[in-house]
Amino acid sequence: MRSAVNKKYLIGIDIGTSGTKSALFDTEGNVIASATAEYPLYQPQNGWAEQEPADWWNAVCKTLREICPAAVDGDIAGIGLSGQMHGLVMLDSDCNVIRRSIIWCDSRTAEECKQIEELVGHDRLIEITANPALAGFTASKIMWVKNHEPENYAKCAHILLPKDYIRYMLTGEFATEVSDASGMQLLDIPGRCWSDEVLEKLGIDKSLLAKVYESPDVTGHITEDAASLTGLPVGIPVAGGAGDNAAAAVGTGVVECGKAFTTVGTSGVVFAHMESPVIDKAGRVHTFCTAVPGQWHVMGVTQAAGLSLNWFKHNIAENLSYKEIDAEAEKISIGADRLLYLPYLMGERTPVLDTNARGVFFGLSAIHTKAHMARAVLEGVAYSLCDCLSVLREMGVETDDMALCGGGAKSPLWRKILSDSFGINVKTMESDEGPALGAAILGGCAAGIYSSVEEGCRIAVRDKSRLSYDPEANAQYEKYYEIYKSIYPALKENYKLLALLG
Ligand code: XUL
Repeated sequence: MRSAVNKKYLIGIDIGTSGTKSALFDTEGNVIASATAEYPLYQPQNGWAEQEPADWWNAVCKTLREICPAAVDGDIAGIGLSGQMHGLVMLDSDCNVIRRSIIWCDSRTAEECKQIEELVGHDRLIEITANPALAGFTASKIMWVKNHEPENYAKCAHILLPKDYIRYMLTGEFATEVSDASGMQLLDIPGRCWSDEVLEKLGIDKSLLAKVYESPDVTGHITEDAASLTGLPVGIPVAGGAGDNAAAAVGTGVVECGKAFTTVGTSGVVFAHMESPVIDKAGRVHTFCTAVPGQWHVMGVTQAAGLSLNWFKHNIAENLSYKEIDAEAEKISIGADRLLYLPYLMGERTPVLDTNARGVFFGLSAIHTKAHMARAVLEGVAYSLCDCLSVLREMGVETDDMALCGGGAKSPLWRKILSDSFGINVKTMESDEGPALGAAILGGCAAGIYSSVEEGCRIAVRDKSRLSYDPEANAQYEKYYEIYKSIYPALKENYKLLALLG
């Protein structure tokens, strides 16, 4: 039974890579106010990526101060957090941040991944954490700090994920939840609890880690200090929330089998809901706990999806807006006059699992213009997401219900390229707030407004439009995709040699 009353509001906060978005929703999922604040990504070396936790916190305070006053005629009842996954935040015993956060797209930890596989054993690691050791995941980042900055590791009293650091600042609690904790590679994925075996073998003290909750659980309440900095009411509950992808699943209603979504944010993800933890033995996609208690999901990840277009805009098409880049790309036909792009700017996860991989324009000719390159970038990201979808299909995941979300899905052209290259019909959602809406729904569960995540989705998530794929365009994309797939294997050894150049 639904216990919602009028004039109750929910807040979802999404700590993304390019910025933080905070949004105020009514209990029907309508956006009342939303605000975004951006911050820098530091890349001190090729393949490294760091952010400043203080930037996230300042962005959270700023955006909350902007949206809270919009709840004039009612009460803010609950909050949920969502955020970029895998980032390592280390605090000392006075709860001060020890070093910049090493974030999800940092690929410095190839050696630590080998070390983790040696210490835990490849098969055992997959049995427990459902994934082989991956540079993107938090465990290898912790081992890197242990190996390279022992003085920082010695000071460390708390290890948190990005959104869980914000939770600490809001509530004073050290807590996490299963969906984001899954990406640390320290969680027993089938058991939904920290793995004592992995922690022991890696020599990581369990007391450094936060308490693990399910996503809709209450994990703490807004403190007086946080209230005065943000404008939030003191004492309202903060839900576990979810990693940004599991939160986007809630925000697009992907909470039962047969449903899936593709998001194009800084990273790109193809995500499908699962009732059991089905694992790809080759580790090309991630099997994680999802935000619905007792359920899982599987997802493939393109490291640089929106990041590819962002890089293109800032380095090659500086004088064009994203809309203008789209308009240029739209003038070019499928295949960009035989120009292909591999989006491996930050190494790649699905399906190649290679930290050395880097971006490629293949087939560049004197006839090609900025417009061709723009088209090739949009198509290359789509091919990389086709790779994710095809691994999911190999694992038996079939879906005829694919939502598109994330900043990239706001582009009608990119949506069409995705649908046509996938060869499936797609839909868009009425709310384009994805992870923030998902986080707010989890906040609504914690506040007792919804009796379950599924109920929250039934009330607050609505489809908007459907796009049918064009079989002829699909046949054309298939020809280019076949060539796209052959480029990485041909370059694999060269990537290794290039990385050795320092
Ligand atoms: C997922 C992943 C990214 C980040 C950033 O494994 O690394 O999707 O969550 O959004």
